[in-house]
Parts: sequence; C-alpha cells; structure tokens
Amino acid sequence: MIRSSPVPPVVPAGRMARAEQPVLDLPGGLELRPWHPGDAGVLVAAARDPAIAHWNRLHVGSPEEGRKRIERMHERWRGERSAIWAMARPGGGEALGLIGWGDIDLHNGDAEIVYWVTAAARGAGVAVEATRRVVRWALDDLGLHRLRLCHAVENEASCRVAVKAGFSYEGTLRSALLHGDGWHDEHLHALVEGDPADTAAGDAGASGPV
Ligand SMILES: CC(C)(COP(=O)(O)OP(=O)(O)OC[C@H]1O[C@@H](n2cnc3c(N)ncnc32)[C@H](O)[C@@H]1OP(=O)(O)O)[C@@H](O)C(=O)NCCC(=O)NCCS
Repeated sequence: MIRSSPVPPVVPAGRMARAEQPVLDLPGGLELRPWHPGDAGVLVAAARDPAIAHWNRLHVGSPEEGRKRIERMHERWRGERSAIWAMARPGGGEALGLIGWGDIDLHNGDAEIVYWVTAAARGAGVAVEATRRVVRWALDDLGLHRLRLCHAVENEASCRVAVKAGFSYEGTLRSALLHGDGWHDEHLHALVEGDPADTAAGDAGASGPV
C-alpha cells in the first residue's frame, strides 16, 4: 500500500524575496553582479551578435527595451522565478556576459541555467568559471537540489561548458526548441546535489554526451 504524506518544499518560499541579490566573486578576477539600467546598451549589442541572437533567442531592439528587460530581471528575483547576473570586472565594469537561473521552482528544488558571453570575452574560460560559481550559489546558498542545462545539439561550445562544469549528459530532447532556422534537438544535462561539481572526468569526456 502506498502511504502518502505531504511533501514539504525543498526551499521555503521567501528565501530569495527576502534577500538582496548577492555579488559573487569569480576566481579569475571577474565578478557576477546584478544588472543595472546602465547595462541596457550591452543587451542591445548582445542581441546583435549572431550566435547569441540564434542560440539564446535574444531580441532587444533599443536601450529602452533593454532597461525594461533589466527591470523584469529584478522583478523576477523578487518573485523568486529567476536569478540573473552580469559577468563584469569589479568596480562597475561593463557587462561581458549574462548568467543565471531561469524557471526557478523553489518548491520542487530545481532551475535551468542560461548564459551567454560577448564575442570579445569568449574563449577565456569565463563561462565555465561563472557556471561553477552559480551552481555553488544555487546548491549551497539557495538550497536547490537539481539543476538543468539544455543546449542545441549543434552548439558544441555550450556542450563543453556543461561537461567542464560538471553537468552530466542525460539524454537528447527531440525537436525541443524553435530557433530562427527551425526546430533543434537539445542535449539535456543536469547536476544534482551531491554530484562532483567540478570533474576531471568531464574534461576526458567521460560524462559527456554519448
Ligand atoms: C557558449 C559560450 C557561453 C561559451 O563561453 P566561453 O566563455 O567562450 O566559454 P569558455 O571559454 O568557458 O570555454 C568553454 C569550452 O568551449 C570550447 N569552445 C569554444 N568555442 C567552441 C566551438 N565553437 N566549438 C567547440 N568548442 C568550443 C572551449 O574551447 C572550451 O573548452 P576547452 O577548455 O576544453 O577548450 C559562448 O561561446 C557564447 O556565448 N556563445 C554564443 C551564445 C551561446 O551559445 N549561448 C549558450 C546557449 S545554450
């Protein structure tokens, strides 16, 4: 016989809403900080980057749209639905990329990562470093249990970020996301509380897609 008992929330409601969004240091000297209205132009420029426009489906046509989007990031923090940071040099440096958690579900303890890095800042390990940092925040500080990372199968750079940051490949989602050129299959990667978050095995491809 199945004995049913109420399942408590993994993270109690209010843990994000009651707190200020923190600034998180990265080992390479950058930091993750909340977006501010002065970053609107970076969002407009990022949306003009062909790879970001394509893979992140980012459309920001004007600084005004950028400011509204940044306002929504802060509303969604207070609503405990997403936690989005700018990657930047400390002391108010220009945003070099975006990273954070969307689709946050405190009750069930899960969320999905989102990221992009401006073309000039790519290839220096920033995405992997920032991913590891927001994973630690999500598991240790917020208390989530399971973190997802999805990327189009063709997006090899994103797959490398996933594997290097310790996200195991769990399968391929067929025809999962509509991009500008049609439907794309996506790899589903996940990192669960207790997984080695920073695996040398990932570098060897042992936990990568099969
Ligand atoms: C994916 C992205 C965030 C990676 O950012 P980054 O800071 O350049 O990543 P890192 O420097 O941390 O490098 C990650 C790995 O990807 C590899 N990589 C980079 N470009 C690659 C490419 N075109 N093909 C295959 N691997 C690539 C790097 O070599 C590195 O692996 P290595 O250390 O084993 O050599 C960045 O390229 C980007 O913003 N791309 C456009 C938008 C996008 O793809 N967003 C993600 C949607 S899921």
